[in-house]
Amino acid sequence: MSLATATRVIAPARNLIGSLRLPGDKSISHRYALLGGLAHGTTRLENFSTGADPASSLGCVAALGAKVERDGASITIEGCGGRFQPANAPLDCGNSGSTMRMLSGLLASQQGSFTLVGDASLSRRPMERIRKPLESMGARITLTDGHAPLTIQGSPLKAIDYFTPVPSAQVKTAVLFAGIDADGTTTVHESVRTRDHGEIALEAFGVKLTRHLDAISITGGQQLQGVEAVIPGDISSAAFFLCAAALFPDSGLLLDNLGLNPTRATLLDVLATLGVKTSVLNLEQRSGNPAQRSGELVGTVQLIAPKDGLSGATISGALAAQLIDELPVLAAIAPYTRNGIRIRDAKELRVKESDRIALVAENLRRMGAEVTEVEDGLDVPGSQSLHGAEIDSGGDHRIAMAFSVAALRADGESIIHGAESADISFPEFFTLLDQVVVR
Ligand code: S3P
Repeated sequence: MSLATATRVIAPARNLIGSLRLPGDKSISHRYALLGGLAHGTTRLENFSTGADPASSLGCVAALGAKVERDGASITIEGCGGRFQPANAPLDCGNSGSTMRMLSGLLASQQGSFTLVGDASLSRRPMERIRKPLESMGARITLTDGHAPLTIQGSPLKAIDYFTPVPSAQVKTAVLFAGIDADGTTTVHESVRTRDHGEIALEAFGVKLTRHLDAISITGGQQLQGVEAVIPGDISSAAFFLCAAALFPDSGLLLDNLGLNPTRATLLDVLATLGVKTSVLNLEQRSGNPAQRSGELVGTVQLIAPKDGLSGATISGALAAQLIDELPVLAAIAPYTRNGIRIRDAKELRVKESDRIALVAENLRRMGAEVTEVEDGLDVPGSQSLHGAEIDSGGDHRIAMAFSVAALRADGESIIHGAESADISFPEFFTLLDQVVVR
């Protein structure tokens, strides 16, 4: 059991009924915070993520000279006009891999030396994946055994052609961010199309990109201009409510102002495979650059759970990469499906905030489930009955929330240890859950 402190007791539910508007998307908030910090002029953001992770991005740009004002979910950033100031202390990225990796991209061309640190979990996560491309552009990066603490010696950069070896939006974005100030045209090729919030954000800040099939190109020497944006609700946070509602035939859930970027909304397809009906209403494009016809899709999702329960699914290949943050909750509800869920090609789960494959398997077993763990995934048979148990979140927000959802269909109460880790992405999670759960 981890040393995390807060516990939450989750009692079984009858169903979920209600409508919710969720806080801003974590991935999008990071990108607008970081780019707003470097940009010329003022950036005004509404519905900014309430999670601790995007607050780490804001803290870092503030330490680098941006003026950041926060009033709840409303953020104003006076950018540094293209040049960060030297930081007089290590930049604290907290638990946030997104902050550390994407900020490194922006720092690679800046004058001076910058040290980035994180908490114990972040200090175990692989950083070699950004060192390689950023060094080949000309920056010098020192790691500690492949991990943070990480020191970047900024340098004039030259453009590169880069093929991402693992599907990672953070790595893609770090290289594109470095490309803003590189000499020539930097191109990133991806084998799997990962979330494109970095591309959309860059365009919103006035940067021209070329996107062609699997390749995104950026020509260096472009200037970022501050923006006004409303951040869409976080679909990865919504995933917990959608999966919870899907477990009970009498559920009815409406989520409005939800981010539905196609590179993020694959969960809706998997839910359809499982037999869940979702309808999307009021779809519109937002937070982008209308002149370039880019933007984030936002809409309302209405869910009607199937009367005869959930079927089953296999998630592998590109699907696994696109659903990477939703896999823990899908695995956690898998025992309640008829045919189970099989997950493959998801080795990246082992290097997230925790080893999510091992921790999902362990917690499912604690609840009495049968599960097989393989190197790159899990086999969770269906038609199982689980009992309440003590859940070890491992200090990982998505594990704490995924098993709070699994606990709703178990026999008896569950205790979630390290429940406070939900604050990393979704501090309102337990309050909103109480609002919509019917017992
Ligand atoms: C993210 C990308 C994914 C995801 C993380 C957020 C992003 O990480 O798991 O929660 O905002 O780009 P990887 O890029 O490591 O796959």
